[in-house]
Amino acid sequence: MVKYSCVATCCAMLVFGCCSGSKTDLTEAALIPKPLSVEASGEAFLLNESTIAYVEAGHTDLVSVAQRFVSQANLATGFTNEIQAVDEAPESGIYFEIPDNRRWMNEDAYSITVTKELITISAPGAVGAFNAVQTLAQLVPFEKTDEYIIPTGVIGDSPLFGWRGAMLDVARHFFSVEDVKRYIDLISYYKINKLHLHLTDDQGWRIEIRSWPNLALHGGSTEVGGGDGGYYTQEQYKDIVAYAQSRFVTIIPEIDLPGHINSALASYGELNGGTIVPEEGRVVMSNPVLGGKAKPTELYTGIEVGWSTLRLEKPETFRFVEDVIRELSEMTPGPYIHIGGDEAHVTKKEDYIEFINRFSDIVKANGKIMIGWEEIGQASIDGESIAQYWNNDEYATMASSKGAKIIMSPAKKVYLDMKYDSTTELGLNWANYVEVDTAYLWDPFKYAYELEPERIVGVEAPLWSETIENMNDIEFLAFPRIIAVAEVAWTPFESRSWDSFNRRLAKHGSRMQSLGIDYYKSPRISWSEIK
Ligand code: ACM
Repeated sequence: MVKYSCVATCCAMLVFGCCSGSKTDLTEAALIPKPLSVEASGEAFLLNESTIAYVEAGHTDLVSVAQRFVSQANLATGFTNEIQAVDEAPESGIYFEIPDNRRWMNEDAYSITVTKELITISAPGAVGAFNAVQTLAQLVPFEKTDEYIIPTGVIGDSPLFGWRGAMLDVARHFFSVEDVKRYIDLISYYKINKLHLHLTDDQGWRIEIRSWPNLALHGGSTEVGGGDGGYYTQEQYKDIVAYAQSRFVTIIPEIDLPGHINSALASYGELNGGTIVPEEGRVVMSNPVLGGKAKPTELYTGIEVGWSTLRLEKPETFRFVEDVIRELSEMTPGPYIHIGGDEAHVTKKEDYIEFINRFSDIVKANGKIMIGWEEIGQASIDGESIAQYWNNDEYATMASSKGAKIIMSPAKKVYLDMKYDSTTELGLNWANYVEVDTAYLWDPFKYAYELEPERIVGVEAPLWSETIENMNDIEFLAFPRIIAVAEVAWTPFESRSWDSFNRRLAKHGSRMQSLGIDYYKSPRISWSEIK
């Protein structure tokens, strides 16, 4: 057992101020997302290299959660704290337990009780314990010192939504497995638990489909601006999924259908039925049909949207869709497949509805839940489907009135590819300029007034990649807005305030800096950084 001497405690008090100071006031801790309840008792737990993390015996899944705490705390402290299994609560150290005599609001819930001797993390299971670790890691100071003060008190916590998502577009520009893993790490620090990967678009097909190999080999061979592109092999994709699972993040793969599909039409001529001119209904082949065999389209490296489509009447179309959704379902343990469905401007409306209805059947036949962008509200979707709101109240309302669940991703609030202001070099501005307060100040239940609140299951922040090419670009557009969105998804609107968030976020400047995050230093925040 680890005992702290009075000398060590008193010295720390001299360095950090006495017990009434902010270092020992748990309610002053800059926690994001803001927990449900925090009570301070004004003393200090000292974390040092001999602090042991204990795990209640019989709960092997808690061992990896305890390991995550040790490795995350290590980034700040450099300590490699030991982990031991025990049958009952120790007298001192950090103790992870799954008590069977407590009722929890949901699997994400947890409590942290900090006394001078012992930190007790209680949760209904590993998910809640992992959330607790993210909170506890934010209580470990980032400034280097020999002993780290954790203020005493009790935190009780549970999120507003079970769906707290981020989306990364790996189609317009391709990002490596290592980049995606880093993004998973960074978002999971703020309790984001879904990563939606936009795997295909006009400019690139980024996932190996073994029954249609040319999709990745040819369709993945370039990107916006004409760079080399790339794709994930099935093994690499599974590696990303497993990495995400170890951080309790579910990967949601998106294949964008029936529009945004040029990379597939460029890979297989038999899918290419030409482009329909919207007003005239006339079909234009970008490459003429030669010798009875349709030619593939050219690869595309621009950023226009809404000009490509699958064709309902082509015999190969549904063989392709069925193969792709089957292979994707087989390599995805999570319950969701996203079929896109947005901006199919050159698909005839009746064909679009037929497409979505058939995609829904195919996704269900593969044992998965279908997600699509809000436009799928026009089809015969049901309560098992999820529609993702992005821009159009009417389509989203159609979806919710048919019983579909709704994920809120309003472009004017949480599209992370929108410029912060008119001086931001990266990003676009077709929806809005999105400063940090814009991303923070909105209520998911009230944003689209016609939507039935009980249908709303979460919030997700998409990052489209027309203008971004590398991890620094991702970080600059995502941070700190993704942190604001994490709190929107976790903490009820009534419990949030911009002033409080601003003060807490300011203190995360040094944390992001220590994590090497290339974040946007918004002039609206009084950042505290390590000098
Ligand atoms: C979208 O932004 N087209 C979903």
